[in-house]
Amino acid sequence: MSVRPGTVGMASGRVLVTYATRLGSTREAAQAVASGLRAAGLGAEVKPAKEVHGLAGYEAVVVGSGLYVGRWHKEVRGFLSRHRQELAVLRWASGLARSLAAAPSARVPVTKV
Ligand SMILES: Cc1cc2nc3c(=O)[nH]c(=O)nc-3n(C[C@H](O)[C@H](O)[C@H](O)COP(=O)(O)O)c2cc1C
Repeated sequence: MSVRPGTVGMASGRVLVTYATRLGSTREAAQAVASGLRAAGLGAEVKPAKEVHGLAGYEAVVVGSGLYVGRWHKEVRGFLSRHRQELAVLRWASGLARSLAAAPSARVPVTKV
């Protein structure tokens, strides 16, 4: 599977929306993302990162996590680490803007989780 940022809108197959949460808001965000994808005519499946054991059958993957003391949830970091060879990832995180700005690129690059 090969996914390039900016091309998800062109996908016609299934999209995996995976996430990890402590308090539940990232799960709700994942469900909202999947609803938006379905409204756009895509197939979308929502699954906790710890329950994803393979990416076969997915054309694109969206990954989300809460931020906890500046870090993504360990289950998302594990997911990214397990699938790093297969993924170019569109990332989002919920939390305060200052930490959010610093976290995705500075602290959790996809190639070094
Ligand atoms: C223990 C703890 C640490 C947190 N650390 C951060 C942080 O470093 N930066 C941030 O922006 N938000 C932080 N937050 C806020 C969470 O990222 C935010 O509430 C998020 O929506 C939680 O996602 P969840 O409901 O999916 O667990 C923290 C929350 C908790 C409970």
